[in-house]
Amino acid sequence: MATATAEKPPAAADAVPSFTVTLIIRRFDPEVDEEPRWQDFDVELYGTDRVLDALHKIKWEQDGSLTFRRSCAHGICGSDAMRINGRNRLACKTLIKDLDITKPIYVEAIKGLPLEKDLVVDMEPFFESFREVQPFLQANSTPGNGKERVQSVADRARFDDTTKCILCAACTSSCPVFWTDGQYFGPAAIVNAHRFIFDSRDDQAKVRLDILNDKEGVWRCRTTFNCSEACPRGIQVTQAIAEVKSAIMRGKP
Ligand code: SF4
Ligand code: F3S
Ligand code: FES
Repeated sequence: MATATAEKPPAAADAVPSFTVTLIIRRFDPEVDEEPRWQDFDVELYGTDRVLDALHKIKWEQDGSLTFRRSCAHGICGSDAMRINGRNRLACKTLIKDLDITKPIYVEAIKGLPLEKDLVVDMEPFFESFREVQPFLQANSTPGNGKERVQSVADRARFDDTTKCILCAACTSSCPVFWTDGQYFGPAAIVNAHRFIFDSRDDQAKVRLDILNDKEGVWRCRTTFNCSEACPRGIQVTQAIAEVKSAIMRGKP
């Protein structure tokens, strides 16, 4: 009969090491600060922690006034987009081990939207553009079979990529055109228009194409690609904008 071998307990040396990381956060309190200021925090972290975990540690253990948005903590709600080391990312999807921890980690609010406090911006201008493109299904005709609007796999595939948007604003707030011209609809609004323009069940594509065929619409895009690089959902944002431009030229999706 085989003898069971007792499993070796993990040696202390196998324990995952923690280390001290310096975060430099751009702070702003409208009640006391005239200008934003940078503040350092040293935090004990593991490589598997995310920047959101670091922000929580600071808020819970060092400075309760640190202000930032977050909800799901799992890359779904889109509420914690911020600039981390100069790049727009979701704090909840950015692992500490993927950053260079030999240097401080710089964290600041996304650009181009009014700063409210610390890492929180006013999202209303962003959502105003989103609402303007009518981001909802408008099917006026009666379904062919009287029951449902059947869609082929190929027709569904035309807008599959743009259904993934979580409205985090990482794209729009990384766009240099949006920084200099706050009136530009911005890539997120165009992505959400694309989602319905190319939906074969929708009857208002022409209306949305007319809305975006505007001096503040798709023609403001300079194909900089910052938006595609910033999107945490991997949406091909610049390509979606190009497809909307082509649809305007053709006069149909
Ligand atoms: Fe965020 Fe991507 Fe949607 Fe832009 S397209 S709002 S980056 S999810
Ligand atoms: Fe801006 Fe993206 Fe166009 S970054 S310029 S919307 S390609
Ligand atoms: Fe929801 Fe990061 S907290 S996406």
